[in-house]
Amino acid sequence: MGRLAVVGAGGFASEVLALVEASNAAAGSPVWQVVGVLADWVPDDDFLDSWDVAHLGATDAHTRLDADVSLVVAVGDPDARRALVARIGSGRDYATLVHPSAALGRHVRLGAGAVVCSHASLTTHVVVGRHAQVHAGAVVGHDCVLDDLATVSPGAIVSGGVHLEEASFLGAGAVVNPRVTVGRGAVVGSGAVVVSDVAAGTTAVGVPARPLAR
Ligand SMILES: CC(C)(COP(=O)(O)OP(=O)(O)OC[C@H]1O[C@@H](n2cnc3c(N)ncnc32)[C@H](O)[C@@H]1OP(=O)(O)O)[C@@H](O)C(=O)NCCC(=O)NCCS
Repeated sequence: MGRLAVVGAGGFASEVLALVEASNAAAGSPVWQVVGVLADWVPDDDFLDSWDVAHLGATDAHTRLDADVSLVVAVGDPDARRALVARIGSGRDYATLVHPSAALGRHVRLGAGAVVCSHASLTTHVVVGRHAQVHAGAVVGHDCVLDDLATVSPGAIVSGGVHLEEASFLGAGAVVNPRVTVGRGAVVGSGAVVVSDVAAGTTAVGVPARPLAR
């Protein structure tokens, strides 16, 4: 059984704690023991009570944890996640977490710290980078590459051969056509249909997706 500390105490941290609970139940015996959460604010009692977890302190309190405790950064926003990973620095192991209801085909590689949520589907020949997230019910087709910190929100559909560059973000229910590249740090709005490449750092919305005029 591995020991795990969850970085974050918001909505996505709840999803990760639910994922761990489901993994333990599905395995028949615990695969992870959650030692607590690290958060830079004091989490609600409701949050701590509902998951029966302790607040171990701010993110930097990871230095007080035993070396065998793995971390997962359970924060949905890619930039916030990047900042936390940078702050934690090297020298800690990150857990790769996959909900037991997720469907992973052959030749799917997941980086350290990656999270695949309930009912997500990654078909085949998919590479998922470090700290990338595929949220509930999302579909990632064949030959996709999700770079580090890329985030696919619930119900998004990523067609085959798509490249989601580092820290790019697909909103809930977005659809990405085959072989499109979503650039580094780009944001695709909920419900958008992406038919052509999205430039790095831009936000695209609508059907078909167009850059958001600022
Ligand atoms: C695209 C998005 C990032 C823009 O957020 P924002 O920068 O705060 O922009 P605003 O909310 O100020 O909206 C700016 C304009 O874009 C429009 N817009 C925002 N989101 C849109 C969307 N998903 N589709 C179409 N238009 C959208 C707004 O109506 C507004 O239009 P207006 O200027 O004509 O009034 C955000 O709306 C979004 O879709 N985020 C994804 C959320 C999500 O799916 N999260 C997953 C949670 S698990």
